[in-house]
Amino acid sequence: MARIVAGVGCSHVPAVGVAIDKDRHDDPYWAPYFAKIAPAREWMRDIAPDVCIVVYNDHASAFSLEVIPTFALGLAAGFPVADEGYGPRPVPPVVGHPELAWHLAESLILDEFDLTLVNEMAVDHGLTVPLSVLFGRPSAWPCKVIPLCVNVIQYPPPTGRRCHRLGRALRRAVDAWPGDERVAVLGTGGMSHQLHGQRAGLINTDFDDAFLDGLVADPGKVAEIGHTEYLREAGAEGIELVMWLVMRGALDPEVNEVYRATHVPTSNTHNGLLLLENAAP
Ligand SMILES: [Fe+2]
Repeated sequence: MARIVAGVGCSHVPAVGVAIDKDRHDDPYWAPYFAKIAPAREWMRDIAPDVCIVVYNDHASAFSLEVIPTFALGLAAGFPVADEGYGPRPVPPVVGHPELAWHLAESLILDEFDLTLVNEMAVDHGLTVPLSVLFGRPSAWPCKVIPLCVNVIQYPPPTGRRCHRLGRALRRAVDAWPGDERVAVLGTGGMSHQLHGQRAGLINTDFDDAFLDGLVADPGKVAEIGHTEYLREAGAEGIELVMWLVMRGALDPEVNEVYRATHVPTSNTHNGLLLLENAAP
């Protein structure tokens, strides 16, 4: 059966994508950040997943306010890189895994998670920046990608508890797949940040650090954090952290924390990177 070999939490800051695309690793602003992500790239090279299920949110690239799916699964053989206003990022094509994706769709929907199924979808920085963080600038991504898009843009987003349960259902689905793929699950977005209004620029490292500690050791408790607490403590865009709970739900209750790095500033965001693996071999 397929096996989940990694759970990754990773911010998807657009400016990080630009820094990678423009090779600004040695720029004084960026060098400390890139030094911190180097061990993650090494570990991902060793882990060598065949497939990454990337839990991310679309930023009005594939979906507008006309259609707002709470959970949308990408089934296509490939996903074009979205033009977010400056042309598509110069990254390799994102290749899907339709067979596994359709299996996930069947398993999750019969498990009572009523996903929106998407056969055609451009993917934006929410999905491509974490790939760049983990894999750098290859000529082709080293794995196939199944996008799992979560609405955290338009109120009401799903609760953390619902996202955690979705992750557990995702685990059951992967376990039931007869192929021998090595699967990584990426939860993206966050950590604390707010892009607009009177509190624009808000960063709360205490909240984020406690979130990461809890995500590792007691995810059931972290899953109970409500929308208001995210908004108050982590800013208007901090709600993206619920997507890390999907990733955590897909892992065993007991995990090893392989690596953690946090960094301020990257753009307006407290940037987080967390690598987890199941504690049991
Ligand atoms: Fe985002």
